[in-house]
Amino acid sequence: MAILVTGGAGFIGSHTCVSLLETGHEVVCVDNLSNSSRTALDRVQAITGKTVKFYECDILDKPMLSKVMRENAIDAVIHFAGLKAVGESVALPLKYYHNNITGTLCLLEVMGEFGVKKIVFSSSATVYGKAETVPLTEDMPTSAYSPYGQTKLMIEQILKDLYVSDNEWSVSLLRYFNPIGAHQSGLIGEDPRDIPNNLMPYITKVAAGKLAQLSVFGSDYPTPDGTCIRDYIHVADLAEGHLKALDKVRRERGVFIHNLGTGTGYSVLDVIKAFETANDIKINYRLADRRPGDVTICYADPAKAKKELDWEAKRDIVQMCRDAWNWQKNNPDGYGD
Ligand code: NAD
Ligand code: WQD
Repeated sequence: MAILVTGGAGFIGSHTCVSLLETGHEVVCVDNLSNSSRTALDRVQAITGKTVKFYECDILDKPMLSKVMRENAIDAVIHFAGLKAVGESVALPLKYYHNNITGTLCLLEVMGEFGVKKIVFSSSATVYGKAETVPLTEDMPTSAYSPYGQTKLMIEQILKDLYVSDNEWSVSLLRYFNPIGAHQSGLIGEDPRDIPNNLMPYITKVAAGKLAQLSVFGSDYPTPDGTCIRDYIHVADLAEGHLKALDKVRRERGVFIHNLGTGTGYSVLDVIKAFETANDIKINYRLADRRPGDVTICYADPAKAKKELDWEAKRDIVQMCRDAWNWQKNNPDGYGD
């Protein structure tokens, strides 16, 4: 039996494909390559010495998804496919609702038709909205402040409703914090198409001389150094979390919600310093205005994942910074396409 990975050519998907293959799973991947490259999967195969069966397929294309299901014995689905740029989602909400929500509905309908009822879904810490207290626990109230965040909340709800309607489903909702880093080989990593929105890819592009200066968005927040605090997690730890969640949905039926974070918060200036120290490189930055929509502090309570999934993050911020730089250094133009 194989695992179907939607969005498997993307940043987190490609790292999860490596972990799946290394633990002996058969992997079938569908991706429309709207934000990724086929080369990522070639690299996954180079790292593992194993094959990923790839379909260039949009999850909105139900006939094609059915063909994938017919041609492969799929046991469970890990569902990464989606658009993820918060700012773009504010400008183009219909694009986000259509791709993420309609796409997920198409996927779930086809899964149901083929009796495949185990799914691990990429949710996000964004579903905690502007929470007043930290660390964030899974039972805290949820809300969304962007169309992107709304899609995550809505898909969580759709999956919960699906389970209520049919208890044969088994659903894992993984709420990721801030994934950074890259595979230790330097062969796969994060490859944003345009100027990066996120902190770590921006830092690595400044380190590589491809961008002149990092703007630190806000230095007057009520935090020790005035900059926002986040829970950065190594993408390889995140990938391992998916294996544990997969075990869970294969063993038990129900809806399981878990934070995937380290439980430690770092400020923007902490991350810059950690990057400089880990890689012996100076980052040119300036303190700038706040970015609209940013929450001040966000970090996980990862205890539930430890208790119920037997998972915890192992890699520290130094390793995250080293691996992110190793990827950028070895691949100055990302996957080159
Ligand atoms: P990514 O853009 O690198 O990967 C997403 C993949 O999905 C891409 O390869 C893209 O081509 C594909 N895709 C998008 N729409 C598709 C469609 N309609 N049909 C088929 N393929 C499609 O992003 P990522 O960082 O790897 O994120 C993976 C998932 O995790 C996303 O759902 C994202 O919202 C979620 N997530 C990401 C973060 C983060 O900071 N990276 C944090 C929390 C949650
Ligand atoms: C981190 C910190 C910025 C860029 C986003 C999504 C979230 C989730 C993860 C998907 C913030 C600061 C950033 C820069 C900066 N994705 N920053 N200069 O905003 O915590 O989370 O990605 O689900 O939903 O919102 O991540 O990396 O953009 O920012 O100062 O050039 O770095 O202000 O404090 P964020 P980020």
